[in-house]
Amino acid sequence: MPVPLDLRAREIATAVVDRLPARGPVPLADPPPGSGLAPVMGEPGLPVLGNTLGFMQRNLEFSREQHARFGPVFWTNAFGTRLLVVLGPDNIETVLQNRDKAFSNEEGWGYFIGPFFDRGVMLMDFDEHRAHRRIMQGAFKRDRLVSYLEGMNRAIAHGLRSWEPGDGFELFEATKTLTLDIATEVFVGAEPGRDADRLNEAFIHTVHGGQTVVRRDVPGGRWHKGLTSRRELQEYFRGQIAEKRAGDGDDLFSVLCHAEGDDGETFSDEDVVNHMIFVLMAAHDTSTITFSMLAYYLAKHPEWQERLRAESEALGKDVIGYDDLDALPSMDLAFKETLRMNSPVGNIARQATKDTEIDGRFVPAGTNMMVGLYPSMRMEPWWSDPDRFDPERFSEGRREDTSHKFAFTPFGGNVHKCIGMHFGGLEVKAILHQMLLRSTWTVPAGYEPVMDYGTGPFPADGLPITLRAR
Ligand code: HEM
Repeated sequence: MPVPLDLRAREIATAVVDRLPARGPVPLADPPPGSGLAPVMGEPGLPVLGNTLGFMQRNLEFSREQHARFGPVFWTNAFGTRLLVVLGPDNIETVLQNRDKAFSNEEGWGYFIGPFFDRGVMLMDFDEHRAHRRIMQGAFKRDRLVSYLEGMNRAIAHGLRSWEPGDGFELFEATKTLTLDIATEVFVGAEPGRDADRLNEAFIHTVHGGQTVVRRDVPGGRWHKGLTSRRELQEYFRGQIAEKRAGDGDDLFSVLCHAEGDDGETFSDEDVVNHMIFVLMAAHDTSTITFSMLAYYLAKHPEWQERLRAESEALGKDVIGYDDLDALPSMDLAFKETLRMNSPVGNIARQATKDTEIDGRFVPAGTNMMVGLYPSMRMEPWWSDPDRFDPERFSEGRREDTSHKFAFTPFGGNVHKCIGMHFGGLEVKAILHQMLLRSTWTVPAGYEPVMDYGTGPFPADGLPITLRAR
């Protein structure tokens, strides 16, 4: 079997670094004389790979270690670039508020996932971003969400019927399939199952394309496969666009075809294709990780599973409606705590496009950056006892999330704040409600999922649970 390119690169880099003397902390760049700014400190990590593997495979531990050494703003080499990492609510605020227009999404995300998600709304800046977001907003209004929820509930009921109770039920794998079936119905307006395999494969390869260590179009590599898959998705959506424009479907694809901004502006065919690809991706992994990790915490903390089940039963409905969410307050607490502990979008990318400063430190133009949402929500002093699953921290009377406007940021903040946050919340809660009514589930005492890191931390062992029908 051929050795994967990523592994080969890792072996070579490890062999090289073993022969090199250790290197110490170095400044990212010298601050301009008289600026009063301090340099950002950091260290490069391994030759070639830098700290890519540490950043990806042990993101939380790596961030904690570097924070202890260099403070909340540090640099390292990773993903083939010099990368500035930004931690903590104050610094997250500086970047996301972007008062100076010094930080670019297009350049920042573009470096990592540009070839795969070109022209997605998250990869646009300033006036252009505002114009596209305004049109897209129409697809996420309340009446739209109400109708998406109907489709979601149908796909969820159908999907959960196929979940076979037993030991070793791989919840993460099953959730991936379920959220894909939901997306196929609610986003694309196709029958669940019909296009799922083809789309599923293309999604996965497109997303993985941007997460590879070997960031070159080498045949057989993940980058290459990602590009091919992106083209497949484009063809798939282009092939259906005329039909969608002519119809009046209430799937997201149809809605984007007809969406209008306040002044009647609309998306071109290519805009619709690009936004569909991006939004599908933005929704899929995030909802899958959130739901499966929430269900995992409920297995680990059965008192919370019972508490949520009692609320769902008290609702007296097989499926939730948009207005039922207020009747499920404990579910909301556990949902938020899951997002805090396991932020599915772990780090968000930006690039400094002019010389600027963060936390009194000099950041030169051209610096690629990662804003650490996941590590910041799992570190003191910003959160107390951050590794403890404690949903009550979000309850009235405690509200630890209000300690700072940018303390709780699983959906980012300011102009790029997740446009699908209510959609994602509805989806996760709609699945959980039906699952609570149909099943109970447990994990063995002491079980901890093996975590990996893609867009954020995810369970790499499939998340085996014992599922029982009620
Ligand atoms: C629990 C689930 C989700 C989480 C944690 C999440 C997280 C995020 C985060 C952190 C951002 C900001 C990225 C940045 O500033 O660079 C974002 C943006 C975005 N998300 Fe989500 N997301 C979720 C679900 C969804 C869903 C379900 C959709 C679509 C239906 C969606 C669509 C988008 C879009 C379009 C953007 C870009 C917004 C813009 O740049 O204006 N997300 N999301």
